Amino acid sequence: MLPGEKEDEQLAAEIMRRRFFPALITHKAWEGFHFAGHEIRITEATDCYGAVVWPSALVLCYFLETNSKQYNLVDKNVIEIGAGTGLVSIVASLLGALVTATDLPELLGNLQHNVLRNTKLKCKHQPRVKELSWGIDLEKNFPRSSCHFDYILAADVVYNHPFLDELLLTFDHLCKNDTVILWAMKFRLDKENQFVGRFQTLFDLEVISNFPSLNITLYKAMRKGRMKARPSKLMV
Ligand SMILES: C[S@@+](CC[C@H](N)C(=O)[O-])C[C@H]1O[C@@H](n2cnc3c(N)ncnc32)[C@H](O)[C@@H]1O
Repeated sequence: MLPGEKEDEQLAAEIMRRRFFPALITHKAWEGFHFAGHEIRITEATDCYGAVVWPSALVLCYFLETNSKQYNLVDKNVIEIGAGTGLVSIVASLLGALVTATDLPELLGNLQHNVLRNTKLKCKHQPRVKELSWGIDLEKNFPRSSCHFDYILAADVVYNHPFLDELLLTFDHLCKNDTVILWAMKFRLDKENQFVGRFQTLFDLEVISNFPSLNITLYKAMRKGRMKARPSKLMV
């Protein structure tokens, strides 16, 4: 799926329509989303980046839902890094994956709440929530010898934060030769955007979806030399 310029705004609008807001104001703020045949309720906060659902997450969820034949997640071992409120992990779980949703320790309470509320008795595999602070204790918490992920999911993990080196280390640590990375990147400032070039020193990248109207590109990546060749116009 690579939308042309004309389709970009139309498809972006279709993706954003998957979000809805409660008709009544309740004591706890939440937002609703429609994905994978379910109504998903996400509790948000306003005090940190991971406490709201970012548009990149919707782009990735829409892709997973609409490409579930080509990217069949049933029984696949999936990790999400920087999961935030958990929408992507929830959708991957609803699509049949065994998911590990990860983020910083201070995000885990709300993440666990959202994951449990939206997946309990609805999924083939109950997702796990686990701390993963980029670059920290990777071998201790995710030993290379025993951790094998079919997919690494990441939505909007590159922005003005001081952990870009650690983020690259984390992708490198978690990614095996056959692991597929699906990464929705929101382009903001040049300094952070250059991360894409650094990422390409380790991984081959393919644009699978591009939304100029949202400044979001969805990439598939694999370790260098592991990706099957595709038409050259898709390679970046
Ligand atoms: C912009 S938010 C995106 C959240 C979610 N993926 C989404 O798209 O809605 C970035 C996420 O990265 C997480 N994050 C930032 N720095 C991190 C670090 N050093 N280690 C682990 N997670 C981090 C934040 O806590 C937050 O959940």
